[in-house]
Amino acid sequence: MEQRTIGMWLYTNGGGDKIAKKIIKKLAERDIKTVSGINLRHAIARNSNIVHNGIKLNKELDLFFSYNAGEQTQYQTYIYQALNRVMPMINSYDSFSLTEDKFHTSLVLKNAAIQTPDYKLCHRDDGHELKKIIKKWDKMVYKPTDGWGGLGLTKIENEATLDMLMPFLNQMDLRYFYVEKFIEYDNTDFRIDIVDGEFVSCYGRKANETDWRTNITAGGSVFMREANDEIVAIAKKACEVTGVDIGGVDIIYDREKEEYIVLEVNGIPAFATPEQEKMGLDFNDKKIKLIVDLIDRKSRKRPNKASE
Ligand SMILES: Nc1ncnc2c1ncn2[C@@H]1O[C@H](COP(=O)(O)OP(=O)(O)O)[C@@H](O)[C@H]1O
Ligand SMILES: [Mg+2]
Repeated sequence: MEQRTIGMWLYTNGGGDKIAKKIIKKLAERDIKTVSGINLRHAIARNSNIVHNGIKLNKELDLFFSYNAGEQTQYQTYIYQALNRVMPMINSYDSFSLTEDKFHTSLVLKNAAIQTPDYKLCHRDDGHELKKIIKKWDKMVYKPTDGWGGLGLTKIENEATLDMLMPFLNQMDLRYFYVEKFIEYDNTDFRIDIVDGEFVSCYGRKANETDWRTNITAGGSVFMREANDEIVAIAKKACEVTGVDIGGVDIIYDREKEEYIVLEVNGIPAFATPEQEKMGLDFNDKKIKLIVDLIDRKSRKRPNKASE
């Protein structure tokens, strides 16, 4: 087989630079060359080509591996979408953009009979729908559909809180409102990483005493936690139906319904940081191996080059 070349854009903070080096080395052992640091923000499209740093990505690459949540821009994701129309990508743009949206993800998961929090989405002019639903639910969470790190999530404890919040929401010029039923849980979650349908890792996160969100950016902390067959099966199914080759699934345990609930699927779940590795999170090598296998397999199809 002729030498293959893949493009890569992987985050460099939190140990990402070292991970990239390992992936590049393992790919080289299989005679796959890597062009790294391809930030599509700096790409230019001209007629049939999308060019970055003198390289015609669509012609010269066999696959593009995009793994950088922190530096995404609107232009970069727009080019991501375009590039995926003419060459294979991990994750596919479709699955990436699906998991970037919490409402779309919940809709897809619910239709696949995967438990997620009950939710309601309505046009901004139908704010009265929120009044109706809080009567039924008692407590709910207002969520920006494209947020991360627990940012912008607001717990609405009762009708009075909603009445106070509505003027602020109305000022924000939103197109719609998305709210979820508040799940009574123990303020801990499971993060399950899946690559190519295989279980990679499980760890837990715990909210700090003053918060109900488990995100690290909201003051939460990571702890060692064993998976069980049930949550692994749920996480695999969530990745399958959202179409992500690589996914990190957030799961909590609903104390009322006594069942596991998927909160979201993250399309760019971080590798363990050097500090987390010291704690005992030792899944990075397994994850790298599965990603290299995946890239190897998916880069064998060369839709453009085949016709040349
Ligand atoms: N419906 C809910 N009920 C209770 N807690 C929730 C609910 N949704 C989210 N949370 C808490 O908020 C955190 C962030 O929510 P999530 O949907 O994962 O968004 P983000 O992308 O910001 O991480 C979760 O890890 C969980 O601790
Ligand atoms: Mg989350």
